[in-house]
Amino acid sequence: MTVIDGKAVSAKVKTEVAEEIKVLCSGGKRAPSLAVVLVGDDPASQVYVRNKKKACELCGITSLEYLLGGDASESELLELINRLNSDPEVDGILVQMPLPRQIDASNVTKAIDPSKDVDAFHPENVGKLFLGAPEFLPCTPAGVMRLLKEYGIEVCGKNCLVVGRSNIVGKPMAALLLAENGTVTVAHSKTKDLKSLAQNADIIVAACGRPGMIAGDMVKPGAVLIDVGITRVDGALKGDVDFDSCAEKAGFITPVPGGVGPMTIAMLMKNTLAAYKKHVC
Ligand code: GUN
Repeated sequence: MTVIDGKAVSAKVKTEVAEEIKVLCSGGKRAPSLAVVLVGDDPASQVYVRNKKKACELCGITSLEYLLGGDASESELLELINRLNSDPEVDGILVQMPLPRQIDASNVTKAIDPSKDVDAFHPENVGKLFLGAPEFLPCTPAGVMRLLKEYGIEVCGKNCLVVGRSNIVGKPMAALLLAENGTVTVAHSKTKDLKSLAQNADIIVAACGRPGMIAGDMVKPGAVLIDVGITRVDGALKGDVDFDSCAEKAGFITPVPGGVGPMTIAMLMKNTLAAYKKHVC
């Protein structure tokens, strides 16, 4: 059994991005820039935003931070997005989710210029992904694909089970696995007999936010277990895969933390570089 080292792969991706930026900017061009918008003071979101800023610094990306109060209106946020859309110095725009309840996240997602949509949440980018011609890859699913690639795990013809159907992870994850010719099943809260689906899967991507949902007796020997879940339970971070009971049966398994988590930000850096190349190069 191999424990997949997401921290190491994330560091490798960030180094690749940093090196490419160094070359691109050596002629005196401005650095790529990422605008991160945080509304309110959710502690988990503050941690994410801080980590994004650190990754930007490491890669040579200018990070611009916009903090709005938790009582900010939707029109206030849309106004800021419009300003960032028309600013030629801004390559990527990321609005940290979740948003306070007075703001409709889908209006916000739709307002971001698709060419600056480094989360790949805009309907145009979602559509392009499902048509097989993506411009930006959604960060977490793209991070999972990169982990599979780094560890030489073939997807073609494999039974892939995605547990969870969120717009951020489950649905785009299924699209990316399908694009690599996996045979993809998407399970969700209404799925009957998850256990038999899981036992038949060569690759499981668990992204349902239920700690320990995938247990050892549900897993085929040698299966690849990718855990996207992160839930705080009694102060500790727990994944959707029960690591202890699954590790002995799995061929590959991602830990929580230190598996998929660090990949999301690394892929965001890659998308910001891709946006910069569209705008500047
Ligand atoms: N909140 C949790 N994950 C994400 C993400 O990937 N992007 C944004 N914008 N917000 C998030």
